[in-house]
Amino acid sequence: MAVKRIGVLTSGGDAPGMNACVRAVVRTATFHGLEVMAIHEGYQGMIRGEIKLMTTRDVGGIIQQGGTIIQTARSEEFKTKPGQREAVRELNENGIDAVIVIGGDGSLSGASVLASYGMNVIGVPASIDNDIGSTEMSIGVDTALNTIIRAIDQLRDTASSHNRAFLVETMGRNCGYLAQVSAIISGAEMVLLPGVEVDIQEVATLIEDSYIKGKNHAIIVVAEGANSSATEIAQNLKDLDVGFHTRVTILGHIQRGGRPTAFDRLLATRLGVKAVEALVEGETDKMVGLQSGDTVLVPLQEVISQTITIREKFIKIFNRVS
Ligand code: ADP
Ligand code: F6P
Repeated sequence: MAVKRIGVLTSGGDAPGMNACVRAVVRTATFHGLEVMAIHEGYQGMIRGEIKLMTTRDVGGIIQQGGTIIQTARSEEFKTKPGQREAVRELNENGIDAVIVIGGDGSLSGASVLASYGMNVIGVPASIDNDIGSTEMSIGVDTALNTIIRAIDQLRDTASSHNRAFLVETMGRNCGYLAQVSAIISGAEMVLLPGVEVDIQEVATLIEDSYIKGKNHAIIVVAEGANSSATEIAQNLKDLDVGFHTRVTILGHIQRGGRPTAFDRLLATRLGVKAVEALVEGETDKMVGLQSGDTVLVPLQEVISQTITIREKFIKIFNRVS
């Protein structure tokens, strides 16, 4: 049966570009004569029935806004059978026959659960972490990277003025993408990644070498998920004489906010359009992704069965240029 009313939600950690994607979903659905219902606050709002009609006019002026105007949440309840049953019941009561889930890998696992209840579902990858399989980029990654390198550029100014070493901690869960790429493109001296043992002596030697070479700073990017946090590393360096004094900056949730970059606005728009057109063409239980520059459809099962870890290719590139 042809889809008539699409529910759209943003779920998990917010990511810049989610609004641009919601806008694209609403406008593309309207173009095809379909209605869109906004499901507020992710799966939690779905369970509670926080569902409202969203028109083309409601999504005016949001393409440039970070965060998500329909809000997001993490819902433990949706991981349970009663929670899922309640959610599907609310969808049915609101006449929703298809759902577009915009979120990270957890949210896409939730999308796959919805599909198992017979709902038409398309997932859209959105997470600053870039830890979602079968897509080269997720919505929000590029903006987060730009935020990180701007912060590191600024830290280098003050580091150089004071002859200091900085340990800069990035987000990114266990895949280390933000740390790997920001270290390469900010010209950091070292990067500490998830799953790679941190040898404090190695860090100390790197900082001391930078000092001896006559540099006036050293920048070390520490990924979330690294064996030691930036704070722990700084604590361990305290008693060692490495030439520079050390300071710590934890970038934290600043990485999640801000106006989406041109790349993220375009990616979000392309994926939003593709998600609606996939539903119109009768597709379900799939994610829209980016592969070799093209938007593609991939089975959700294939996406959620993958665990994305550190990229070996970037280790090599960092070692060549650092
Ligand atoms: P993200 O989508 O950013 O990775 P989470 O991992 O917190 O964020 O997932 C967001 C939400 O998706 C969770 O709070 C939960 O409601 C839902 N979810 C995550 N994993 C599952 C799962 N295995 N089954 C059902 N729902 C899930
Ligand atoms: O998944 C996005 C992310 O920002 C991760 O990089 C980080 O580990 C996590 O979410 C933080 O979650 P919260 O906003 O719940 O503190």
